[in-house]
Amino acid sequence: MNSGKTILDFETVALFDEENAIRIIDQTKLPGTTELIDLKTAEEIWDAIYLLKVRGAPAIGVTAAFGIYLLTKQVEIADDTPEKHAENFETLKAVFEKQKDYLDSSRPTAVNLSWALRRMEKVFLACGEDESLTMAQVKERLREEAVRIREEDVAVCRSIGEYGLTLLKPGDGVLTHCNAGQLATIKYGTATAPIYLAQEKGYGLRVFCDETRPLLQGARLTAYELHAAGVDVTLLCDNMSASLMKTGRVQAVFVGCDRVAANGDAANKIGTSVVATIAARYHVPFYVCAPTSTIDMSLASGDEIVIEQRKPEEVTEMWYKERMAPEGISVYNPAFDVTDHDLITGIITEYGIARAPYTESLREIFRRKEAESGSRIRI
Ligand code: MRU
Repeated sequence: MNSGKTILDFETVALFDEENAIRIIDQTKLPGTTELIDLKTAEEIWDAIYLLKVRGAPAIGVTAAFGIYLLTKQVEIADDTPEKHAENFETLKAVFEKQKDYLDSSRPTAVNLSWALRRMEKVFLACGEDESLTMAQVKERLREEAVRIREEDVAVCRSIGEYGLTLLKPGDGVLTHCNAGQLATIKYGTATAPIYLAQEKGYGLRVFCDETRPLLQGARLTAYELHAAGVDVTLLCDNMSASLMKTGRVQAVFVGCDRVAANGDAANKIGTSVVATIAARYHVPFYVCAPTSTIDMSLASGDEIVIEQRKPEEVTEMWYKERMAPEGISVYNPAFDVTDHDLITGIITEYGIARAPYTESLREIFRRKEAESGSRIRI
């Protein structure tokens, strides 16, 4: 890494338009190596998302938005005049829809992926209605929307941080699971946003970070970025959180999420629901930090959330010098679990904190979003 720079000085996901590339930090190499890689083809983008080189719900959404823009942009149009609008738009549309479906298939649980692609599609289809547009202009509209999705993420996370900060006092202990940090977003993170804002204000929080088996996002990413920011952070194995909470050293749990159903059930990294259950046992408030882009009001409950199942090798050998389980053993490796809404003290969104009953309060959050027409968040 360049001298004087920390991991927080690198952009999680950036567009390099002239190079037709998305530049990401390869998160599978952290914390040992900070390697920036360029994604250019549809396959490279798909693989980077599937292999968790770029991960975390908001960062995946931004990557998909840049991806669909770049893949559509590269379709060559011979006679790009408004007179040829309908014919040219159909050419672009065939590629747009094919690549949208392909990128959308890379990971199933984080709704931000399909949310971002649908948002891009809405802009794209609206361009189809405007016959005065050339395809160069259509491509420019897609670029603007993708950049907007990325920039909005910063404002959204900052707002979640401000609401989250109201739940903390100086000196509090905070536990987090997985990485819902800057590395999972563009800036601040979601679950880490209150922590970063508290750090700016000198709150002196003590943060505890679960290592997060099997892919170690807590140890490799959260502990790394919080430590780089000068936060007092202590790493623990996943099976140590009950012991920690029993000592009274945790005043709040903050976690991110990948999809929240309309009743408040929240899917997040595997192990989150264990933490929530223990937090309830020891009366520690448990907060889910959720941009509205992660809330899926079309699902009545968490039972409808598709949970990604991943390869057995992630449990048996990845990160170990040698295999740590017998050959041929069956492995259960869901990437996410669903925390039941009754274990959640509050869902912190960029439009305020929703509390039970969530079926009502989440609807109210969306009403507020609608009423403000996104003005506070849109940039
Ligand atoms: O499999 P991952 O690393 O993409 O899982 C990430 C999480 O579960 C995060 O908590 C979630 O995406 C929120 S990121 C702000």
